[in-house]
Amino acid sequence: MNKLDTALVGSALKAAGFELTGSVKEADAVLINTCSVREHAEQRVFSHLGHLKHIKESRPALVVGVIGCMAQRLGKQLLEDKTVDIVCGPGQIPQIVTLVREALDGNKKTLSITEKIRQKPDEDNTLDDFESAYGIEDKEIPGQAFIRVMRGCDKFCSYCVVPYVRGAEVSRQPKVIIEQIKKLAGNGVKQVTLLGQRVNAYRYTTGEKTYCLADLLSMASDIKGIEWIRFVTSYPSKEFFDEILEAMATLSKVCNYLHLPAQSGSDKILHAMNRGYTCSEYLELLDRARAAAAGIAIAGDFIVGFPGETKEDFQATVDLVKKARYKNCFIFKYSPRPGTNADEKLKDNVPAEIKRKRNIELLDVQNEISEKLSRQSLKKTVRVLVEGLSKKPHLNQAGSENKPQLVGRTTADYIVVFNGPKALAGQFAEVKIKRTSALTLFGELSH
Ligand code: 5AD
Ligand code: SF4
Repeated sequence: MNKLDTALVGSALKAAGFELTGSVKEADAVLINTCSVREHAEQRVFSHLGHLKHIKESRPALVVGVIGCMAQRLGKQLLEDKTVDIVCGPGQIPQIVTLVREALDGNKKTLSITEKIRQKPDEDNTLDDFESAYGIEDKEIPGQAFIRVMRGCDKFCSYCVVPYVRGAEVSRQPKVIIEQIKKLAGNGVKQVTLLGQRVNAYRYTTGEKTYCLADLLSMASDIKGIEWIRFVTSYPSKEFFDEILEAMATLSKVCNYLHLPAQSGSDKILHAMNRGYTCSEYLELLDRARAAAAGIAIAGDFIVGFPGETKEDFQATVDLVKKARYKNCFIFKYSPRPGTNADEKLKDNVPAEIKRKRNIELLDVQNEISEKLSRQSLKKTVRVLVEGLSKKPHLNQAGSENKPQLVGRTTADYIVVFNGPKALAGQFAEVKIKRTSALTLFGELSH
């Protein structure tokens, strides 16, 4: 979501005649897009602001803007910081060009956020128009694009800040989404990733018909030029689950990958998290997914050290990870977020050191599983959509000058590293796997 917002803001500024630079030294304005999901992410923003404060002492004309979830969460408080000129929430990004211009011209401070964040927004196309206009510009990974199909979240998991900063759940019109994908395909995009906090809960009713995610997958599959379709993130619920699995099984363009966060393996903790399912219900969903879509890769998210998590609760999480056989997992230490139910009603009573140990232990358990699963690709030839130059070329042998190390992903989201011509970025390639690690497959280009 944040990557998409950053790309949209960048595209809008470029279209308005601004030039983007990666260097603060060269910049007239610095915008920080922010995440509020964990305290650590917010602390990093404060330390960036501290750094910018020094720069601003010698260059008072430098404009500093904070955009995204932290802007929405902290609003006025952020604007009180002398360093900050613009505070712009996720719902106000279409105003960013105007806000930057005004700040550059007039040295004026502006706060632009949603007043009543939980109120369902009126029929207003500003955000949609902004997404459609600038969603086709980003070229960070050639051949790929993100498309938001839903905004906000109504789930209120007790630890989570998202419903308070991204607002009420709203599904975008299928017509608008499909038009946007068609435009992207016309611009050479081959893979689209449909985005939503609970993307599998997508629901749009018009007249007699209710569209669900499976309908979007099917309509997107009909678009010429689009070859792979992904969607993230899914919520473990039965609603539309069979329809979506059926779409995965029957539509060849839909990638064989499901990100289905469990968060915990303990029913007691799942209840305290307000997740609305038990561990065995969750495992049943995994069974159904594997039965419907052969070879599907599943990824998970877990929070360790949630309030009240005992040794036994954590052990239940370890057992779930062993049973689930995830391709990979994202594991986080619980971070209390102001305004959430968990923060207001439960004591953050698992010591930091225990959170750290549980995080490491769970990662180790998952790592062993990931290694085993990766090994199944050994000696096989896999189809890869090439993203570009590898960022960690030291992991593999250095290539010759015209065959640098490239990185791409398979349909099941495995990262594949191999040597090949740079021009392959944005194209499909066949790669024979020669070596594997937990998170990466290493191979050679097949001819
Ligand atoms: N503390 C730690 N992790 C969190 N996540 C969401 N909120 C918190 C929190 N307060 C994790 C969840 C979610 C992922 C995006 O971030 O695992 O799936
Ligand atoms: Fe947060 Fe739960 Fe919504 Fe995901 S489903 S964004 S964890 S409230």
